[in-house]
Amino acid sequence: MKYIQSYLAIILFVFVSCTGTAGTKKTEASTMRQVLNGKILIGCAVNVNQTNGEDSVGSAIIAAQYNSITPENCMKSEVIHPEENRYDFIASDAYVDYGMNHGMFIIGHCLVWHSQLAPWFCVDKDGKNVSPEVLKQRLKTHIETIVGRYKGRIKGWDVVNEAFNDDGTYRQSKFYQILGEEFIPLAFQYAHEADPDAELYYNDYSMVGAQKRDSVISMVRKLKARGIRIDGIGMQMHSTMEDPNLSGVEKSIEAFASTGCKVMITEFDMSVLPNPFAGTNASVANRFAYTEKTDPFSKGLPDSVSTAWNKRMNDFFLLFLKHADVISRVTMWGLADSDSWRNDWPIRGRTDYPLLFDRSHQSKAIVDSIISEAKKVSVVKR
Ligand code: G3I
Repeated sequence: MKYIQSYLAIILFVFVSCTGTAGTKKTEASTMRQVLNGKILIGCAVNVNQTNGEDSVGSAIIAAQYNSITPENCMKSEVIHPEENRYDFIASDAYVDYGMNHGMFIIGHCLVWHSQLAPWFCVDKDGKNVSPEVLKQRLKTHIETIVGRYKGRIKGWDVVNEAFNDDGTYRQSKFYQILGEEFIPLAFQYAHEADPDAELYYNDYSMVGAQKRDSVISMVRKLKARGIRIDGIGMQMHSTMEDPNLSGVEKSIEAFASTGCKVMITEFDMSVLPNPFAGTNASVANRFAYTEKTDPFSKGLPDSVSTAWNKRMNDFFLLFLKHADVISRVTMWGLADSDSWRNDWPIRGRTDYPLLFDRSHQSKAIVDSIISEAKKVSVVKR
């Protein structure tokens, strides 16, 4: 069965490479990857089935349409480093091999994050926080081992993820409780030492809110003032039909670019479902109960909603192309609607439509729009 799948995947990939029609309804002369080449990296978060070949259809479309990948889960510490003296590189090796085989700009995600954190990382055998010295050593070993293993192949790392609250204060994570704000420069320094050529990023959600935006900018400036390498600021952009507004996104793009960093849209998706709370806060801690009312499109998406979604997506992509001098990459958080985490967050078991490809792996209208708009743009990087 696996051989048949691989065989089908190869046929599909060759077909796609020759015709550029993967996942597009109409015959297109090009793919997003082709037309955006040299302008903005176009990325996709991938799951293990896409990189190990189980999802051969998805895997072929990603290879045709995207030129950058981010691992959705397989490099988070609970997966890659589940015990202090045990790493599990099976999925991450397959991820990096997949990226290398398809000429991708490969992202590592994420070295330091309070969530999906390996349970041993910050505590001793009695569950008490370890000392600052012990945590420094653990951080160094973790980062050195993982960044070192993929040196020269992973080109950019989300070094620290979500260190701030929406009000701009530091999140009271274990890393912060034990090391204070110094955990951030330490993580960047260890990553740089492990691969001096890799790009290093700070990544967060709700980056349009002024308080978080200003705190991130001040943290970045402090790193730079100390001569610590940081190349990029990632705006996750888990969006809804209401939030964030375009002018706020533009303001943040300009503000982040003013630090001299590249700006990246790192985890883009846009839910059509009712949101139980305002804003774009992607904290996985926020959960609400399922009712039928909260899942209005379980049998299909009305044309009017689909049209509005494609229009809003197009407005965002036009904005990103307008700022392509400072935006180095736009990464979608998943390939097809059925793959998306948004079907299960903040309410489990709903049917959402947040990505560029539908549940049959057909491209939505936005893909053709991106292709035609990208063809018109010429980009000079700042
Ligand atoms: O692997 C287990 C599996 O063994 C178990 O049977 C299954 C049962 O629920 O759960 C599986 O784990 C799930 C994991 O994804 C892998 O699929 C977790 O429940 C689920 O909570 C987890 O969700 C991920 C989430 O991060 C957790 O923090 C999403 O897939 C992933 O898209 C999401 O990504 C994050 C970014 O890394 C950082 N920014 C926010 C973004 C959304 O939360």
